[in-house]
Amino acid sequence: MKVTKAVIPAAGLGTRVLPATKAMPKEMLPIVDKPAIQYIVEEAVRSGITDILIITNRGKDIIEDHFDRCPELEERLLATGKNDVYDEVVALSHLANIFFIRQKETKGLGHAVSCAKNFVGNEPFAVLYGDDVIIGEDPACAQLIRAYDEFGKAVVGIKAVPEEAISKYSSLKVEPLRDNIFSCTDMVEKPKTKEEVLSLYSILGRCVLTPDIFDILENTAPGAGGEIQLTDAMRTLAQTVGMTGVDFTGTRYDMGDKLGILKATVEVALADKVLGDPFREYLKSISVTL
Ligand code: UTP
Repeated sequence: MKVTKAVIPAAGLGTRVLPATKAMPKEMLPIVDKPAIQYIVEEAVRSGITDILIITNRGKDIIEDHFDRCPELEERLLATGKNDVYDEVVALSHLANIFFIRQKETKGLGHAVSCAKNFVGNEPFAVLYGDDVIIGEDPACAQLIRAYDEFGKAVVGIKAVPEEAISKYSSLKVEPLRDNIFSCTDMVEKPKTKEEVLSLYSILGRCVLTPDIFDILENTAPGAGGEIQLTDAMRTLAQTVGMTGVDFTGTRYDMGDKLGILKATVEVALADKVLGDPFREYLKSISVTL
């Protein structure tokens, strides 16, 4: 079955980016001129997704506003001849069928995904983590969907992380299948000891899941940090039917981390058609003082 639905969990508390995220959702933090979540929605759309459910919570209404029409603003843009920006602003509300649901309590990523049960129905679906922006020619979500189409199993987007950082991520048991594609048969969230580390490959930001995940999630007890971890539920899939891992191409920026936000801003600005040259000159001029 074709993957046309996506879920974007965006109900986290963003405690690593406080105080910026006290009133402002981290998913709305901009990279140059677009909020993080817009890059993610655009990636999903470029991957063939037509229906997107964004999981929000209290205080995240501006995410809804961002993907809605805004007649006063549109009128002003037309009246002042800013037609290009007008087109861009209107296009935003037609990107996809975007739905919203609230996660009533912040009980973890696994719990957030379980809020998508009715939206998903009996279809495979993509999950794009709301604070992981991935920039590349070939959309990461599309790379995972192709692996799902080929191998028929749930897929995780994976990347190798530094050894000293693995305890902050998940760790996967993987065997190479070909090129950047692996089979994945086990995983552990935030390994506490060296013995628990299965490999330095970790799940980063994207997966394609099958609807059987919802029954598994219902029976998943809180794990690391007292939260219902998606990794704990995916482990059951990996151990029983197996999963596929795709070491996706593209650069991933962690928008839930201050350094990640800075890296995204610098690199996206350098690649910008208009801002790239003046920004490069500016960086060169200050780099001599570093
Ligand atoms: P994170 O663990 O990075 O989000 O979850 P967080 O809880 O906001 O992180 P801290 O507080 O800075 O450590 C990854 C994604 O899952 C969403 C987050 O919004 C983020 O996009 N999430 C997390 C939920 O939707 N609900 C939750 O209960 C937890």
